[in-house]
Amino acid sequence: MKVVARSENDFSRAALELAAGELVAFPTETVYGLGANALDSAAVARIFAAKSRPRFNPLIVHVHDFGVATEYAEFSSLAEELADAFWPGPLTLVLPRIENCALSPLVSAGLDTVALRSPAHKVARHLLETAQLPIAAPSANRSGRISPTSAADVQAELGDFPAMILDGGRCPIGLESTVLRITEDGPQILRSGALPREEIEEVLGRKLTSFGGEEGAPLSPGQLASHYAPESAIRLNVTDPGSGEAFMAFGPDAPPFEGPSINLSESGDLQEAAANFFSALRELDEADVTSIAVMPIPFTGLGEAINDRLQRAAAER
Ligand code: TXA
Ligand code: MG
Repeated sequence: MKVVARSENDFSRAALELAAGELVAFPTETVYGLGANALDSAAVARIFAAKSRPRFNPLIVHVHDFGVATEYAEFSSLAEELADAFWPGPLTLVLPRIENCALSPLVSAGLDTVALRSPAHKVARHLLETAQLPIAAPSANRSGRISPTSAADVQAELGDFPAMILDGGRCPIGLESTVLRITEDGPQILRSGALPREEIEEVLGRKLTSFGGEEGAPLSPGQLASHYAPESAIRLNVTDPGSGEAFMAFGPDAPPFEGPSINLSESGDLQEAAANFFSALRELDEADVTSIAVMPIPFTGLGEAINDRLQRAAAER
């Protein structure tokens, strides 16, 4: 049986699989990850193969706590302050990698930095604790596709690649972590995500520089224009969907619609919308339609990350 509940026995088995170089998919508070022992290059290489992920796109290493993280990266006082404020949680820090640390060089894809995060989900934490290993884990989808927010999504995306899929139900946040790089010039958001920009700015006591880079150059190797792509085309900022379309609505003012339609949050709550977003995209994509029309979604709080995912889902492929 591939998808398992989480008995103590399942965690022990998952830890053995990881130690043996196999892949284990597991839930986090953001999305499901496809995990491998981050110390083992052969295991990490399996992640790239399973996802058909370009080798230039580095991976996030998941650690149990700050102490483990300091074995692999150099923390400035600012980085430490942010880890202290937001770990465990949906913040990924991109930091200078400690030379000759034990991590596989593949996780950094040739860069001299490493992305680290200590997840909050209790299944992820118990897995890290049981395995006693750092776990490299991208979202458990084929490269460029919609991120998985349930064990069934992982099964549909990656089928037989992981030796096990730990089932933790639906992911509570539903969007990937915020990726923050800290350089001498200060912190910079490489990927907007589950930790809203405003919350980071509050701790920093100042505004963060805009993500996306100059002229849209990707700051993060993974920030390719097309990502999260459904089969159907996506039309953004639509308030009057046409016949033959599916409709992704938001808020109390959504117009009535005959065709397949999902309202991300009838009350207009961005947290609820984030939690529903990827599964709604998946479900509407399964309807037999030419395109998915999406209502405007505000850019505040988690809305920034939802809009980022939408723009990439709508981008030219
Ligand atoms: O919520 C999440 O972050 C999920 C869960 C499983 O933790 N993981 C996830 O991983 O979204 P992935 O591989 O789908 O996205 C990682 C992002 C990519 O955009 C990648 O380019 C960026 O982080 N990244 C990783 N290491 C980096 C580095 N050293 N420098 C710059 N960007 C990096
Ligand atoms: Mg991903």
